[in-house]
Order: sequence, then structure tokens, then C-alpha cells
Amino acid sequence: MIDLKGKVAIVTGGSRGIGAEIARLLGSLGAKVAVNYNRSAEQAEALVAEIKENGSDALAFQADVSSLPAAEALVAAAKEKWGTVDILVTSAGMNWDGTIWKMTAEQWQKVIDVDLTGTFNYIRSCAPIFREQKWGRIITITSINGLRGKFGQTNYSAAKGGVIALTKAAAKDLGKYQVTSNSVAPGFILTEMGEAMPDEFKQIAINEGVMKKAGLPIDVANLVGFLASDAGGHITGEVIKVDGGQYI
Ligand SMILES: NC(=O)c1ccc[n+]([C@@H]2O[C@H](COP(=O)([O-])OP(=O)(O)OC[C@H]3O[C@@H](n4cnc5c(N)ncnc54)[C@H](OP(=O)(O)O)[C@@H]3O)[C@@H](O)[C@H]2O)c1
Repeated sequence: MIDLKGKVAIVTGGSRGIGAEIARLLGSLGAKVAVNYNRSAEQAEALVAEIKENGSDALAFQADVSSLPAAEALVAAAKEKWGTVDILVTSAGMNWDGTIWKMTAEQWQKVIDVDLTGTFNYIRSCAPIFREQKWGRIITITSINGLRGKFGQTNYSAAKGGVIALTKAAAKDLGKYQVTSNSVAPGFILTEMGEAMPDEFKQIAINEGVMKKAGLPIDVANLVGFLASDAGGHITGEVIKVDGGQYI
């Protein structure tokens, strides 16, 4: 039985989709959860209320993940409220697709800023705390497309590939302080991001998977819960796919 009682977690992009399900699950396992959001204040506040009703504690914090000062402020707020931070999950992400011959510099930079730099900002802000307390869990959300590259997603694929390398390098920097750093690589998951794909591409993604079905946010959250716990304490530097066999 996974128990996260007494642990403090930060989930970026916790207002919707995969991040919201992760925040919900960590809360139900006993963790206190800082739910980061950018635009979806109402969803973040509703989730915080739900986590509190279910017996744990939570706070909502607005921050664009591409800002390092905002990341530092969020981490400081969680530490101020609960004394420390133990678990970092970086789920905030976006895509802005276009084939390479049409992609603008703005399209490229925005996705790199949010998906890759946004992940760095939170690992950077939590690392001193994890290092000092000699315990920490970093769980980044990448994508199978960060491993294989996807048509029309050079920016997103590059950012998610960068997240994998960043996660592995952080595992090396922080390993001797008993901090694990792993990346979870979802395949097609039913969220607003997943649903936004054209029907034809959704069907291709489903057909690629050997299980012939889309994943759900809880499929991703379950693995995150395990990696965040003591049970996952000897796993680090890994990229674990949650994709119903879409990649193989
Ligand atoms: N769904 C899939 O099929 C799939 C597959 C592989 C990987 N992923 C990855 O899984 C993660 C979650 O995706 P999802 O499907 O849950 O997406 P989603 O439903 O579109 O939700 C995206 C989340 O990211 C947050 N976000 C976006 N830009 C942000 C920013 N600049 N600062 C802070 N938060 C920001 C959003 O917050 P606000 O609404 O508050 O702005 C929202 O909570 C992403 O990293 C995504 O790349 C998803």
C-alpha cells in the first residue's frame, strides 16, 4: 500500500488533464499538494477543495512555468506553508503543431519555453531543498514523441526529448543525495490536449497501440504515485512509457 502521508508535493499543470489526476491521486495517498495552474484558476481551486474534503491539504498557485522567478515563488510558498517540499511532478505542457517547413520561430520558442524550460525551472527550484534534506522525488512528464519524434511536432518532440535528457542528468547530479529523477512517457491519453487532435490522428494513435485503446489520466497518475513513494526509491534515471504498447 502506497502511503504519502506527511509528504509535500508540487504538481505543475495541475489544473487539468493528467496533472489534475496526479494531484488528486497524490492527495488521496496523503500528500499535501501545491496545484500549479496558469489560466484555469477555477479548475485548480475546485481540485484544491476536493483534496481538502478528502482529508489532505492543498493550495492553488498561479504561475506560468516558463518563469524561473515564479517557480521559485511557488516552491517558497509550499515550503512556507508545509515546511518542505518532497515530491515534484512537472506535468505542465502544451503543443503548437506545424510541419518543419512552416514552423515559426515563435512557435518553436514557446513550446521550448513551456515544456522544456518550464521543467528545468521547477527542478532547479526544488533541487536545493531535496539536496539538503537528502530525499526527493522528481517525476517529469515527457511523451513517447520525445523518444521517437512525431510528424508536425518538431518543437514538441525536441522539447520532450530535452525533458528526458534533463531528467537523466538531474538523476546524476542528485543521486548521492537520495533524490530520484524519472520521466513518465505517456502515449495517447484522453485529455483536452489528446482530444484536440483531429479524429484521423486519434484513430492512428489508437491503432498504433497493441491494446487498441486510448489511455486515461489515471493510468499515468498510478505510475507517478508509485515513483513518488518509498516503493520506487531505487528507480532513477528511467523513462517509463504508459502507452498501451503504442511505441513498440
Ligand atoms: N494527452 C496526451 O495524449 C499526452 C501524451 C503524452 C504526453 N502528454 C503530456 O502530459 C502533460 C499533460 O498534458 P494533458 O494532456 O493533461 O494536457 P492538457 O489537458 O492540455 O492540460 C495542460 C495543463 O498544462 C498547464 N499549462 C499549460 N501551459 C502552462 C504554462 N505556461 N504554465 C503553467 N501551466 C501550464 C495547463 O494549465 P492551465 O489550464 O491552468 O493554463 C493544464 O493544467 C503535458 O506535458 C503533455 O505534453 C500528454
